[in-house]
Amino acid sequence: MPKHYLMCRPEHFTVEYAINPWMDPEAGADRDVAVRQWEGLKAAYEELGHEVSLIDPIEGLPDMVFAANGALVVGGRVYGARFAFPERAAEGPAYLRWFAENGYATKEATLTNEGEGDFLTLDEVILAGTGFRTDVAAHMEAQEFLGLPVISLKLVDPRFYHLDTALFPLDGRNIAYYPGAFSKGSQEVLRRMFPDAVLASAEDAAVLGLNAVSDGRSVVINSEAADLQLELKRRGYEVIPVELSELRKAGGGPKCCTLEIRGE
Ligand code: ARG
Repeated sequence: MPKHYLMCRPEHFTVEYAINPWMDPEAGADRDVAVRQWEGLKAAYEELGHEVSLIDPIEGLPDMVFAANGALVVGGRVYGARFAFPERAAEGPAYLRWFAENGYATKEATLTNEGEGDFLTLDEVILAGTGFRTDVAAHMEAQEFLGLPVISLKLVDPRFYHLDTALFPLDGRNIAYYPGAFSKGSQEVLRRMFPDAVLASAEDAAVLGLNAVSDGRSVVINSEAADLQLELKRRGYEVIPVELSELRKAGGGPKCCTLEIRGE
């Protein structure tokens, strides 16, 4: 099944503020390298047969490349993002406008949430992160708007400040995750719900290996996540390694750059 993704070319990408432990404004980042690596990610999706739509980048919003944070789209309904930090606040309305202009039913959020950064959608349930960015009350707001049950999970390690840095859906029913990113109670919930999950090591999590995108058959994943790639292959997935080291300097990987547009 081909997917539809929304992406934003990192034309204005910089690391000029620090809102997560990966970001070092002193060290900065190389924008040209970031653009080249991002083009590689976009090409990988297109080679897999997926459709990629683009939103225009806005000057002064260096993190806008991380499209996953722009909204949550399920069944053609768009739940808008409301960012935790003022540096990114203007991205929420920009993404929502794109969806409104493209004919989607949109809802402005009243509560802080960072879109697909903290909401990951499976067939029958949405997994939602809280602890660093998304307000747990926004989980309920999303559930009411989208009509899918939302399971709240608590993140405890600041390196894994969004759910999508610690967990990704392999398909509509199963996931891969790094247990150490979650509270004890949330680890128990994940064990109960996903007894066959792929468990990632601390090493693979530390290169943002869990920030991957699976279409159920092929998994686009940071090239450094070696053991996780082996395990995915062992389970029958095609593995597409991508190099996104420059964007990791802002705390992002393949999934962060990718907002899935789920139609009706
Ligand atoms: N610098 C961005 C931030 O801290 C990175 C966002 C990464 N996106 C994601 N979906 N995890 O907000």
